[in-house]
This record gives sequence, C-alpha cells and structure tokens, in this order.
Amino acid sequence: GKSGYDHYMLKEIHDQPRAIRRCLRGRLRELDGAVEIDELGGLDRPDRVHFVACGTSYHASLYGARLFRERGIPSTAFLASEYDVGKIPIDEGTAVIGVTQSGETADTLAALREANSAGATTVTVSNVVGSSASREADHVLYIRAGPEISVAATKTFASQQVALTLLASAITGACDRDTLEALRSLPDHVQSVLDQSRTHEIAAEYADAEMDAYFFIGRGYAAPVALEGALKLKEISYAHAEGFPAGELKHGPLALVTERTPVFAVVTGDSRAETMLGNINEVSSRGAPVVAVTDSPEPLAADVDHVVPIPETDPRLAPILANVQLQLVAYWIARELGRSIDKPRNLAKSVTVQ
Ligand code: F6R
Repeated sequence: GKSGYDHYMLKEIHDQPRAIRRCLRGRLRELDGAVEIDELGGLDRPDRVHFVACGTSYHASLYGARLFRERGIPSTAFLASEYDVGKIPIDEGTAVIGVTQSGETADTLAALREANSAGATTVTVSNVVGSSASREADHVLYIRAGPEISVAATKTFASQQVALTLLASAITGACDRDTLEALRSLPDHVQSVLDQSRTHEIAAEYADAEMDAYFFIGRGYAAPVALEGALKLKEISYAHAEGFPAGELKHGPLALVTERTPVFAVVTGDSRAETMLGNINEVSSRGAPVVAVTDSPEPLAADVDHVVPIPETDPRLAPILANVQLQLVAYWIARELGRSIDKPRNLAKSVTVQ
C-alpha cells in the first residue's frame, strides 16, 4: 500500500534512503572500501561503453557515461530508439549497457538484442529480477529499489545513479575513497533532504496557470538531473517544462525567458563555478524567477529568488540530492494543480512497443 502517503509517488520519493541502502548492501568492501559486485564476475574492463535507455533511465545513463569517461573509458549514452548498431562501430571490446527499470522497454530490449548479435558484451541494469532485459544480457546488475508503482520513476532513478557509480568503480578498479565514503552517507543525506524540504512552499508560489514554461538548468553531473527535473514536472503536472545543460541557454532557449518562466538551477560541485552563476544572472536579468538547488554553504554570488539547500557532499553525488528536491517540486506542483499524480494521462509504466 501507500504506507499512509497520499500517493505512491510521494511514498516512493520517501523510500529513497532505504532503496539506496539496499543497492549498496554487500557491494562496498569494509576493509579497503573497494567496490565488489558478485554478479559481475568475468566482466572485463571494456575499451568503450555504450549506454542504451529511454526516458528517466536515459538520464541516468547520461550520468553514468560521464562517470565512465572520468575514469578513462570512452562512453556515450544513446536513446535506445536511436541506437543504430549497423552504423555505430561496435565489437567485443564494446560493453553495451542497457539501463531499464522495468526490464521490459521494447526499444531498450531491441538495442540489447542487436548489440548481442553484433558481438558486444552486454550488461543490463534493472530493477526487476528475471525481466526480459535481464535475460537478454551477458551480465545483470540489479538496482534493488523495490517495486515502483507510480508511473513517474523516482526511487529507481536514484538507485540507477548509485548502481552506475558502483559499476563504474567496479569495472575500472578505480576506487575513489571520497566518493565511496560519500556513498555510505548518501542514504542519511537523502533522509535529511526529505525531513527538511520546504518545496511545497516553492510549489505554492509557482504552480500557476499564468506561467508559460518551467526551465531546469545544470552543468556537468547536474545536467542529467536538470533534464530529469523537467521530465518529472511535465509528466505529472502537464506544464511545459524543458531541461538543458546551462551552457545551451544562449544558443536558443534564452529567447523564451520572461517573468513567466521560472528557472530551476542545480548549482552543485564544480557547477558552482562562475559560468553557472553567469547563466543564472542571464535569466534573472530577463525577469525570470530563479530557484537555486545548491549545496553551497555560502550565499550564491548570483541573483536568485529562492535557495533550496541540500547537504554538502561529493560533487558527483550532490546532483542525486538535488534531484530529490526536484522530484518534490514536481510532486507538489502537480498536487497544487489537482493532477492524477500516480497515473498521468496518456502514459504507461512500462512501454512494450517500439
Ligand atoms: C519517467 C519514466 C519513463 C521511463 C522510461 C524507461 O518517469 O518513468 O521515462 O523511465 O519509459 O523505462 P524503463 O526504465 O522501465 O526502461
């Protein structure tokens, strides 16, 4: 059931500390802190990685590809529906990683099948034991988020980000102690975000039919979270929302920015730098209301209307915390607007046709 929450989505957002703990359990060695994933025995370090996924899982893949690249493995995230094996060079040195919560998404399954027949090493990252995608691949990594009922993916996104962090460390043998220490603290950090979030106040201010659109911006590891924040909001509130890497603002979207386009800016880690603050000032000087989700302990040197704080942590993991705030923003805006939160119109939990 909903354990006393009004919606499955809210329950699943609050499940995240437990979901992350389950994903980590038994996978971080106590003694030296190294990552060890039993299921992945025999998976060698690939020459390159292709992620294939759809929707929220694609956003997790963008995040994962960056983690692998940072560890020296050329990696690209593809939308599964655009993955064209015939035209993309792949061989046995290529690991094709399908990220799919349900394990039943038709496009992701098709991409994995093609990758298998082209001789790649395939890996499925899934939440559902025995799902079609987990049977299709050479290796499976389960994210262990527990059942997700709400159509909008929430806890499975966090669990995918954590699982991909583990996978990148396990495959490359690169064990970054600070990140691993931060991973151990992540469930508690998420819990403190949940306990202290005041996003319902932000939602009450901006859930307004007078708004033209909502923008979400971020850089680096926070860029996929900006995309995800927009997807979540459009999916359950039916408001027009767009997310993009902040550097893209000047290349088009800025033309739309007015006092009726609230901008949510994820300002974490390296993206706290001057460039991001410059992007914020670009939108605020056009009159846009700006909400900054940030782990900065200092006031931001930029013109923002609201600061939504998150605990300070490893720069790669901070976007996971920021995302929890954005999930709550989407939830409370949809609720203000009286939407059908757990079952948005026109959408299905699992998309089994291409
Ligand atoms: C968004 C959402 C979808 C799914 C997408 C892929 O909230 O749930 O975008 O992420 O349909 O689904 P899976 O991960 O099951 O392959």
